[in-house]
Amino acid sequence: MPDLVFPDGFMWGASTSAYQIEGGNEHADWWAWELAGGGTEPSGAACDSWSRWRDDIDAAVELGLSVHRISIEWSRIEPEPGVIDEQALACYAEMLAEARARGLSTMVVLWHFTNPRWLGTRPWTEAAHVDAFEQHVLRVVPVLAPHVDHWATINEGNTYAWHGYITGDWPPGLQNAWPSARRVYRFLGDAHLRARAAIKELLGEEASVGLTHVLAWPHPAERGGALSGVTQWWWRLIGNDLFLDRVGAETDWLGVQYYYDSPCRTFGVALDDGDPPRTDMGWRICPEGLYQVVKTAWARYGVPIIVTENGLADAADLQRGRFIIDHLAWVHRAIEEGVDVRGYLHWSLLDNYEWAHGFAPRFGLVEVDYTTFARTPRESGRLFGRIARENRIAEGLGSELRYADGTPSRAPSR
Ligand code: BGC
Repeated sequence: MPDLVFPDGFMWGASTSAYQIEGGNEHADWWAWELAGGGTEPSGAACDSWSRWRDDIDAAVELGLSVHRISIEWSRIEPEPGVIDEQALACYAEMLAEARARGLSTMVVLWHFTNPRWLGTRPWTEAAHVDAFEQHVLRVVPVLAPHVDHWATINEGNTYAWHGYITGDWPPGLQNAWPSARRVYRFLGDAHLRARAAIKELLGEEASVGLTHVLAWPHPAERGGALSGVTQWWWRLIGNDLFLDRVGAETDWLGVQYYYDSPCRTFGVALDDGDPPRTDMGWRICPEGLYQVVKTAWARYGVPIIVTENGLADAADLQRGRFIIDHLAWVHRAIEEGVDVRGYLHWSLLDNYEWAHGFAPRFGLVEVDYTTFARTPRESGRLFGRIARENRIAEGLGSELRYADGTPSRAPSR
């Protein structure tokens, strides 16, 4: 691969979310779900980041990243309706100030899947939930604002509605509750619009307020895909368009998140189609999909794009280096073709609590020992750090890296 240089000022970072790393978020609905036996194991102390957040910042700085993405846990700040834990809020402010002092820019996600328990048994199905969230935003933004570069309102409303209201493997655990899922889309969309308006009102028009969303790339399966038009349309509708067509342009930037593609057959997604390399979770590794979703988002909404999540479970760290280089090479291609991509944030900085799958999947650039909570950078983390520091993929970098099945590279051919 030739030298691939990224635009000046390109943002290089890694993403985390509060519930997945902090530990002890006992006022969240996920905690109650775990106590009731949901998921594979309880999140417990997670990465103990509520105490060890300085170690997380150290890790990001040592890798050479320039952006630190966290989320704030609403239920920690407001454990009971209207009761504010000022210390918790001050701790988030301190965390962000420290990240800034260490040379990182900061991105704060205001909602990343978890809710205060008091929001009820069907979160986001009522307009009152949007009102409560807006109050939360109005409360936290003035305190955190001096230390925040970029705000993101809502993370992956589609993933939340799917797992919480359709498959039921996340709280509130409802299955095939399609009308409720539709309401969740509507109210999470409203939450974005209202939060954005509130932040602009508080901080001025120049405040950078985005939205992070996982996008699907439905395409015909190599085998049996000829008649898949309806299936593709359906995935595109519920994965992307239903939510984003309402809010995708009402944002200063769109955080595009991508993990795997969706090859479609006439009936259903052809998960057994073709033979791509796979992650520890069995997810297909298809780097071209990142290019496809970035191009789609740009063409459809015309706002600057930041890739805010992309990553894989890879406990042995055998594939992550190849994965990162290939996905970045496709991002670079999109930039060459004129797409305004401002940055790439890997998921995740650390190994963490992977929701219904518990701690087994290892998504970190940095390994976490769940007994000692020691953080150790992985080889792939160092490689990503080098790319970040040099703002380019140097010619030949990682040419020896292969996927676990022997596939040499899935970067675009040049
Ligand atoms: C979510 C993360 C999650 C990751 C990997 C994204 O959908 O924002 O919370 O850990 O995917 O599954």
